[in-house]
Amino acid sequence: MTTPKKLFIKTYGCQMNVYDSERMAEALGGQGYVETSEAGEADMILLNTCHIREKAAEKVYSELGRMKALKVEKPDLKIGVAGCVAQAEGAEIMRRQPAVDLVVGPQSYHRLPEMEAKARAGEKALDTDFPEEDKFERLKSRPKAARGPSAFLTVQEGCDKFCAFCVVPYTRGAEVSRPAARVLDEARDLVERGVREITLLGQNVNAYHGAGPDGSDYTLAKLIWDLDKVDGLERIRFTTSHPNDMTDDLIAAHGECEKLMPYLHLPVQSGSDRVLKRMNRSHKAESYLRLIERIRAARPDILLSGDFIVGFPEETEADFQATLDLIEEVKYGQAYSFKYSTRPGTPAAERAQVDADAADERLQRLQLLITTQQRMIQDAMVGRTTRVLFEKPGRLDGQMVGKSEHLHAVHVADPSLQRGDLRRVQIIGSGTNSLQGALLD
Ligand code: SAH
Ligand code: SF4
Ligand code: F3S
Repeated sequence: MTTPKKLFIKTYGCQMNVYDSERMAEALGGQGYVETSEAGEADMILLNTCHIREKAAEKVYSELGRMKALKVEKPDLKIGVAGCVAQAEGAEIMRRQPAVDLVVGPQSYHRLPEMEAKARAGEKALDTDFPEEDKFERLKSRPKAARGPSAFLTVQEGCDKFCAFCVVPYTRGAEVSRPAARVLDEARDLVERGVREITLLGQNVNAYHGAGPDGSDYTLAKLIWDLDKVDGLERIRFTTSHPNDMTDDLIAAHGECEKLMPYLHLPVQSGSDRVLKRMNRSHKAESYLRLIERIRAARPDILLSGDFIVGFPEETEADFQATLDLIEEVKYGQAYSFKYSTRPGTPAAERAQVDADAADERLQRLQLLITTQQRMIQDAMVGRTTRVLFEKPGRLDGQMVGKSEHLHAVHVADPSLQRGDLRRVQIIGSGTNSLQGALLD
């Protein structure tokens, strides 16, 4: 019997990359690879990269420098770069780091087995096409390995929105939605393998418009209602949404579909209409606030999460203040905030940049406000009852950690708890980043 080859994958960036890394591991499983968590043991190293900000992209090259050293001890080691840096920079990566054997863009993962064979034969393998064939169909998993209680499932990919700061439309390509039947098949398969919660993924997931069972265009809400009928699936989430694609049926689903969790990530980026316009966001601060009102009318206890960029070109102190005002009004339970990073090839890269110190200072002020809000909302959970899906052991003996309906991490100490349990819990305490709870039944 031949010993299996070992694959080490390091994932950067968003949840879609996490999902893609799983698919790539499965695709290479067919070539006799098993995954390892030790880069030093690997026969193949794949970096699944992110191009969203300069820091993320540059990290890849320092990591490649370290990985290259492993080739001295193991000349057969193959090094590959996947993901959004692969798409954006292509062959340039091999020029900058000749130790790289393989470069594969996000739309070509189903071709990995052939590419791996080519790299094994000592040739450089490069594929950053946007092919016509259905990558997901070709990536269907072979062995039915058991899964943890919570899983990602990509239903939509790419973006047609072209925000002035963002590389995603270039690295992931145009919006494409998977047919509903294929999503449902994959969901049923995940449930058979132990999954109880599915997070539907898309760069603009609420713009989902895959073919429904009769071939007509489906909406994300219709897909959610079909998933609602899957026995054994207990929870549904989705991310990331764009304010302009929050359709009435999706808002209504938040009030009516019990499996749909009361959490919504709805990035606004800025609270200044002047900046939003220059960002090409196609919504205003006011329209976003009215949308939040409608969502809260459908589901009053929904927890809102957002993304913010500070220091976008030409952002003034008054623009920034408008962002703080919007945050004050919405009250986010969770938020991600970033200093604007210039990305080559995007329209905003050509514009007058904000002074870096001013941007740093704004980021700090914004993060302080967000942290205060987050903490208040988290603290307000104490005394309430929620259901927690337990995912892994906690740091203390006999403790398990899981996620509440509102996606808070909850620690419970109870020897009866098993991974995958979904239990009613009373929240009894609130710490820096998590809640403590006690089982109710
Ligand atoms: N599709 C999602 C977000 C994708 S990128 C959406 O439209 O909301 C995730 C987040 O990264 C964005 O929401 C934005 O806040 C941030 N981001 C994107 N490009 C950036 C850049 N050039 N500099 C700083 N942050 C950026
Ligand atoms: Fe980027 Fe805007 Fe598309 Fe989101 S909607 S992926 S921020 S271009
Ligand atoms: Fe990064 Fe690509 Fe995701 S740029 S955020 S890995 S879509």
